Amino acid sequence: MSRRSWLSPSLFSPWLTLSLLLTVFCSLVVVAQVPPVDTEGHPWWQHAVFYEIYPRSFADSNNDGVGDLNGISSKMSYLRDLGVDAIWITPCYPSPQVDFGYDVADYENIDPMYGNLADFDHMVAEGRKHHVRVILDFVPNHTSDQHPWFQDSKSSRTAPHRDWYIWRDGKAPGQPPNNWISIFGGSAWTFDPTTNQYYYHFFYAQQPDLNWRNPAVEKVMLDTTRWWYKRGVSGFRLDAVDTLFEDPALHDNPVLPGVNKQGDPNEENQYNTNFPEVHKELQNLRKVADESGAVLIGETWTSNVAQLDRYYGQGGNELQMPMDFMFTMVNKLSPPEFRRQIAAVESAHGWPVFVISNHDIVRSYNRYGDGKNNDAISKLMGAFYLTLRGTPILYYGEEIGMENNDPARKEDVKDPIGRTGWPKEKGRDGERTPMQWNTGPNAGFSKKDPWLPVPPSYQTHNVATESKDSNSVLNLYKKVLALRHTNEALLEGNYTALNEDDLNVMCYLRSYKGKAVLVALNMSATPQKAAFDLSKQGFGRATLRSLIASPEASAKGNEVTLEPFGLLIAEVN
Ligand code: NOJ
Repeated sequence: MSRRSWLSPSLFSPWLTLSLLLTVFCSLVVVAQVPPVDTEGHPWWQHAVFYEIYPRSFADSNNDGVGDLNGISSKMSYLRDLGVDAIWITPCYPSPQVDFGYDVADYENIDPMYGNLADFDHMVAEGRKHHVRVILDFVPNHTSDQHPWFQDSKSSRTAPHRDWYIWRDGKAPGQPPNNWISIFGGSAWTFDPTTNQYYYHFFYAQQPDLNWRNPAVEKVMLDTTRWWYKRGVSGFRLDAVDTLFEDPALHDNPVLPGVNKQGDPNEENQYNTNFPEVHKELQNLRKVADESGAVLIGETWTSNVAQLDRYYGQGGNELQMPMDFMFTMVNKLSPPEFRRQIAAVESAHGWPVFVISNHDIVRSYNRYGDGKNNDAISKLMGAFYLTLRGTPILYYGEEIGMENNDPARKEDVKDPIGRTGWPKEKGRDGERTPMQWNTGPNAGFSKKDPWLPVPPSYQTHNVATESKDSNSVLNLYKKVLALRHTNEALLEGNYTALNEDDLNVMCYLRSYKGKAVLVALNMSATPQKAAFDLSKQGFGRATLRSLIASPEASAKGNEVTLEPFGLLIAEVN
């Protein structure tokens, strides 16, 4: 139960009042310590490097096989050395864990499996010491079916929380109200015999959708974000924002040809996603975030740049950081396709946030790797991702070249969609395996067998081993991250695509106030040369000076030579 719901006048005692006053006082001190802009006057999040942590899998301090907040606290100096400024932690609130935390049963607490609020405060304090901010995941679209709001809502048609969720009569006995399909399989409606009505869930049946048309829902959710800001959170990643509202008239969605991996008919989500009302709520969430200089990152799956652009809001009054997932759709090393996608996002009116990997997507190591040169490709993609204009959000383990470890047998699958969709859909376990720290048992993640197995490649791909190898994926990431923290052209510079007809070498210039950095990435398995005429960019007689390069890459005058999958980041002089 959310604390707020327990607060009734009869519960007020002098002790409670004193502790409330203390909490408010401490929160004010905490908020005052988080400046909204960095020293040069940029919003802090524009120059920051974000790092996504799946808390079950990062570091296990109590050796129960599942990661926890104290584990994260213990790794702050690793994160700082890597060059991370903010961590986004996927949901760590109390939850039955049907969707591994995205089914929240209490928005203002920590699941005991991860620790408690004191551990959370300790983590924020450790973060401060190491200049690492904490971003939480906010799940506004749905709660767990075990949340006390839903338990009340389902208890009777007149319950106080009845209208906090979306309840409807069936079309006819045994028939759901309309044809909407849950993205995780089956009808998006589940019948509840207690009150003889169906409730709506875009995701699992255990994740009933909240009714955002009810002002009480809006209020409690806005207050929740405020509560966490006061506790020292520097922002939120907002889950599934496009699904907040649906058509009150419940029109059927258009049915498309074919079936999906779960065997359901394909549908266009015309009547249950992307309603204009979402933008009003994002503006409201933003007003609250602005009270604390916090950042809002959006899980914004869009099919075109116009949709993505809308998420920034009029004059930038919605999300500062809507994520561009269209970038992840470029699933091969194709300079023309990457150029097209970057140009599209560059035409939008906000700060870019490209996505390369996360806990729902097969790791970039496997998506772009060719099976033979994966480490070189991993470095190439790191150099690419971290030198684009915008704020990067690294997924844990990308920096050591972690690979997907998909379950081989249905009975080993933990993610429910992997069981219902097997074998076409193996679920998301593969990209959520424990962080590989060293060559010890369970890759140094835990003394107990972890909740998901580590792949055999942990013997070579782990933090300890790679730290000692100057040519490792980890050291390439560290070098590029150190450069982007100090180089103004990389932090602030414009992006200009170069040699746009080149099918193999992806190259671009980042330039700022007469200074420039050139990036050349050989996306092919054959050696390549590329020469540059930078006169249009005002660097006519410039020569290149290598800053970071793969072992056989070189720059001479205005020309670069690259081995297969080689990379070069050069200063333009
Ligand atoms: C998006 C999250 O990234 C995913 O992991 C989750 O299953 C759904 N939203 C539902 O919350």
